[in-house]
Amino acid sequence: MFGSLLSLLCFLVMAPSMNSWSAAADVITCSGTVTMRYRSDKISITDFGGVGDGRTVNTLAFRAAIYRIEHLRRRGGTLLYIPPGVYLTESFNLTSHMTLYLAKGAVIRATQNTWNWPLIAPLPSYGRGRELPGGRYLSFIHADGVRDVVITGENGTIDGQGDVWWNMWRQKTLQFTRPNLIEFMHSRHIIITNVIFQNSPFWNIHPVYCSNVVIRNVTILAPYDSPNTDGIDPDSSSNVCIEDSYISTGDDLVAVKSGWDEYGIAFGRPSSDITIRRITGSSPFAGIAIGSESSGGVENVLAENINLYNMGIGIHVKTNTGRGGVIRNITVSDVYMENARMGIKISGNVGDHPDDKFNPNALPIVTGIRINQVWGVKVQQPGLIHGIKNSPFTGICLSNISLNGVAGLRTTPWQCSDVSGGAQRVTPWPCSELISTDGGGSCAIPF
Ligand SMILES: *[C@@H]1O[C@H](CO)[C@@H](O)[C@H](O)[C@H]1NC(C)=O
Ligand SMILES: *[C@@H]1O[C@H](CO)[C@@H](O)[C@H](O)[C@H]1NC(C)=O
Ligand SMILES: *[C@@H]1O[C@H](CO)[C@@H](O)[C@H](O)[C@H]1NC(C)=O
Repeated sequence: MFGSLLSLLCFLVMAPSMNSWSAAADVITCSGTVTMRYRSDKISITDFGGVGDGRTVNTLAFRAAIYRIEHLRRRGGTLLYIPPGVYLTESFNLTSHMTLYLAKGAVIRATQNTWNWPLIAPLPSYGRGRELPGGRYLSFIHADGVRDVVITGENGTIDGQGDVWWNMWRQKTLQFTRPNLIEFMHSRHIIITNVIFQNSPFWNIHPVYCSNVVIRNVTILAPYDSPNTDGIDPDSSSNVCIEDSYISTGDDLVAVKSGWDEYGIAFGRPSSDITIRRITGSSPFAGIAIGSESSGGVENVLAENINLYNMGIGIHVKTNTGRGGVIRNITVSDVYMENARMGIKISGNVGDHPDDKFNPNALPIVTGIRINQVWGVKVQQPGLIHGIKNSPFTGICLSNISLNGVAGLRTTPWQCSDVSGGAQRVTPWPCSELISTDGGGSCAIPF
């Protein structure tokens, strides 16, 4: 009750910047996805020798505190309190039935010891590190096979100090794939709320092979020019709900993924039932993305009430030959975008391959993409839909879309190929491949 009241207040505060369709809508939240646990057993990082002076390395304190939670197994789990202060630490792993609670002014900051950062095996659905062959650096905060974990508090900060990693990427001196700021693998019943994530070395929040994950009311920040700092990447995961968050990074704000080419096809784990709502942000790449790694398939995605500023591409569905996978039943609605290179892009030739063993006949299927209620200003090109010749995209339905150009600049028209579907009330008008459904005809989506 209290929670929904707060989110209603939060919504009302955000409402003026949103478009008019959403103002009348009821506020729906993620609250059914995971139950928030109250924990009566509480410990503080300072009980384990933690010092928040910004210089002391607290790795042993974090590991000891989490070891205590894992092995003492108090009924209802344990809350680990991080008081105000800057707690420098190397990477650490979470365990089940714990809450990591960051007080107001608490910062958990990654060391920059890139030379002895631990390595772990590549994800089976990627076959190798995403950036470089071989293993990958362990995420700063990592969890494998856990359940019932909460990361919350009073807007404390988890800081990856990623600039050393970005510079290694720029200078091409990286040996392995950079660490994520936080990764959950094979985990369920996870809540991340009221935390600020900043300066991730690579992707910020990466739930992979997970179910029942809620990410709400978070702030994710990384410089506009920081490489591959995706905000949230649900990957081969189901029942993921992301809402009420501000994300401003150097790469896609939210990208739903499911593995890479032959490795992702063999692993065969889709991402499904993903809800993304009330997200505001900016990025030189995409706001809402599907792919490009989507080899396990992506289905049943709803993204709504999205506000984007200074964007590369507002909405981007991306895949490639060799990916395989079915992308279907994707709905994106109520999007406002301002100052974007491109409004909507659905394309079958985006992204690289893990190696030359990918199967060129593994063609992805893209069907049932509904995009409606999109309002854009200062959008240089409204859209591009390039299907695949032997696997044309079907059921691409656009409605109530207005993407306005930049005053004084000639707008590049829509470009389409190998696509079928329908459009109504779209300006500028897309392509002849999309049949006008203005006469009331429905946009038929095969399932
Ligand atoms: C979002 O964060 C703010 C500040 O910490 C807090 O006041 C508010 O209650 C949070 N909203 C929700 C829905 O948790
Ligand atoms: C953390 O988890 C990783 C991967 O599961 C493992 O390789 C590593 O040894 C763990 N670290 C600690 C300190 O337990
Ligand atoms: C905490 O974060 C939320 C979500 O981004 C934001 O709305 C709120 O203003 C923040 N509150 C404080 C006290 O910084």
